[in-house]
Amino acid sequence: VEPPAAAAVPQAGRDGLVLLSRVGVVDPSSLDDYRAHGGYTALRRAFAIGAAGVIREVTESGLVGRGGAAFPTGRKWQATASQPDRTHYLVCNADESEPGTFKDRVLMEGDPYALVEAMTVAGFAVGARQGYLYLRGEYPRALARLEHALGQARARGLLGDDILGQGYSFDIEIRRGAGAYICGEETALFNSIEGHRGEPRSKPPFPVEKGLFGRPTAENNVETLVNVLPVLTMGAQAYAAVGTGASTGPKLFCVSGSVDRPGVYELPFGATLGELLELAGVREGLRAVLLGGAAGGFVRPDELDIPLTFEGTREAGATLGSGVVLAFDGTVPLPRLLLRIAEFFRDESCGQCVPCRVGTVRQEEALHRIAERRGAAAEPDIALLREVGRTMKDASICGLGQTAWNAVESAIDRLGAYE
Ligand code: NAI
Ligand code: SF4
Repeated sequence: VEPPAAAAVPQAGRDGLVLLSRVGVVDPSSLDDYRAHGGYTALRRAFAIGAAGVIREVTESGLVGRGGAAFPTGRKWQATASQPDRTHYLVCNADESEPGTFKDRVLMEGDPYALVEAMTVAGFAVGARQGYLYLRGEYPRALARLEHALGQARARGLLGDDILGQGYSFDIEIRRGAGAYICGEETALFNSIEGHRGEPRSKPPFPVEKGLFGRPTAENNVETLVNVLPVLTMGAQAYAAVGTGASTGPKLFCVSGSVDRPGVYELPFGATLGELLELAGVREGLRAVLLGGAAGGFVRPDELDIPLTFEGTREAGATLGSGVVLAFDGTVPLPRLLLRIAEFFRDESCGQCVPCRVGTVRQEEALHRIAERRGAAAEPDIALLREVGRTMKDASICGLGQTAWNAVESAIDRLGAYE
């Protein structure tokens, strides 16, 4: 099995990488190669310090979720582990579908055993005997590599009964998505695994209390889980020393668009947007950068000193999300781009609640009218967009409807689109 194309990871093989250290370096089909490059050291440490010790390390590391919402992982695990229910689940959200996001794919294709090991550590910490890996349907290579890795891990006593003779039993089942963006929302994902329509549930109750099959569930993104390995091998304090006080550790960024070297980059939190774009070879004539994907927002070329941290982007009125950085030069027609984003949300809305079901249609219609008139007399439609956008944000059940207006709003307010 060939490693991922070098183009997907321009830093492959460089010193100092943590999350990408094995990607493009090890043979993703070889468990021995994984072990020769530090694999399964974290699981051994987890068994040595016990489930409570793992949760303590993860909490002290300051690790927060890398799927986009930045919820503290240690808090999530502690809340799951402490539920009295005897059956707990671990779910890995690998339904990576945010436009411009491909970091989890690179991790799964290039270092599949890392995810298998990290899920085993997480399952042990939260008291789960069964883990589910919900994989985006359009990732066939990741599927093949993960299935192979699971088989090898089972054959070598690293999954199944009595792992490494430590009395802990755990296994992982892969479930494939079928193309719906909304199934990446954690509760829609549970419904999908359970065989129901992929529609989000109202929260609370949060999954830590009532998740998959109504049981306490820790649901984590691929990159979040893979971060647990260095937390355990480096130790919480050394891990927390990387990045900033509020955004600790390394972070993966997906850079694409008007750059010479698109791909997944690893940087410690705190590097600036400009530094990242410099690495990726940003082209002349940069017009805007979309941060955080379709649910994120635009920043201007004069704002490239924004620090890439959760707190820094928030203070700047932007969002880091899952680490999407899409660069656009002047050749990209902004109205067409906004219309495409609006089409995406209209298409992917599950239709369960009115503000999102109707709002995403009204938003697309208004943007279509503006684009057709090429900017002339846009004010009434912009006023309508603001009203619809506020309603979606305030009254939608889940993140899809709540963020469907973000990019359009920032394009109007920050970039002066349609002026
Ligand atoms: P959220 O803020 O509702 O929840 C984040 C996590 O924290 C969830 O697992 C939730 O269960 C947990 N949580 C929140 N409050 C809790 C509490 N009081 N007790 C226990 N657990 C609690 O955000 P959501 O809707 O799960 O995710 C939104 C994010 O997803 C956005 O930031 C967006 O960027 C990102 N996203 C990422 C995609 C990708 O492909 N990576 C696709 C679409 C969205
Ligand atoms: Fe479905 Fe949209 Fe409502 Fe979310 S906000 S539940 S995607 S209709």
